[in-house]
Amino acid sequence: MNIPRPPIWLLILVGAVAILAVLILSGRITWFSTDPPVEFVPNMDHQFKAIPQSGSSFFSNKSSLREPIPGTVARNVSVYPLAQGDVDLADSVNVDPNYEKSEFVIARGQNRFNVFCAPCHNYNAKSDSNPIVKRGLWPGIPDLTRPETAALTNGRIFHIISAGQNLMPSYADKVSPIDRWAIIYYLRTLQQAATAGE
Ligand code: HEC
Repeated sequence: MNIPRPPIWLLILVGAVAILAVLILSGRITWFSTDPPVEFVPNMDHQFKAIPQSGSSFFSNKSSLREPIPGTVARNVSVYPLAQGDVDLADSVNVDPNYEKSEFVIARGQNRFNVFCAPCHNYNAKSDSNPIVKRGLWPGIPDLTRPETAALTNGRIFHIISAGQNLMPSYADKVSPIDRWAIIYYLRTLQQAATAGE
């Protein structure tokens, strides 16, 4: 049987259309559509996992973030003994160990401050340039360089970091006590810089 060979331009055209179709369907070409691509091998795309801050179809209360089981504590965590309202005891319980304010300690404080505090209080501790404050979404974050905050004792700030204060959550389970002191010493340098107008 004599099957006629298709002309070369037809082969090229069919090939080009096929490649284009694969590129479009797999989401490689985005000018065509911004819809999610067709999933040829979707194995890894939709995994069953808990995504923080989003709902869960697994747990009965539909929350992905799990509360600690009542009456239990995480391992290797030093439990902060005071409740948020125990402000009067803050200075007697949190005695400032007065670590040397070496370059290393201040740098450690800066590192921890930038990770744990800057999201709300900003890198300069002034809070006002924070995007959520600027957009008026959360006006209640105080400027930590203001005189009222600068007047707080180290033990009192240790208490705020450890127990939280109103909308500010506790960082006792995330920032170790020694790092809390380093953060406080670093915060003092920010406050001094602000008063000096730097
Ligand atoms: C999730 C946002 C958030 C984070 C992160 C955060 N704070 Fe706060 N902070 C607040 C809010 C809100 C207040 C005001 C609380 C109130 O209304 O009393 C506050 C208040 C304070 C105050 C008291 C200021 C005053 O004049 O009363 C200090 C000190 C402070 N924060 C230090 C820190 C430090 C140090 C860290 C990092 C370990 C930190 N904060 C992390 C939100 C935050």
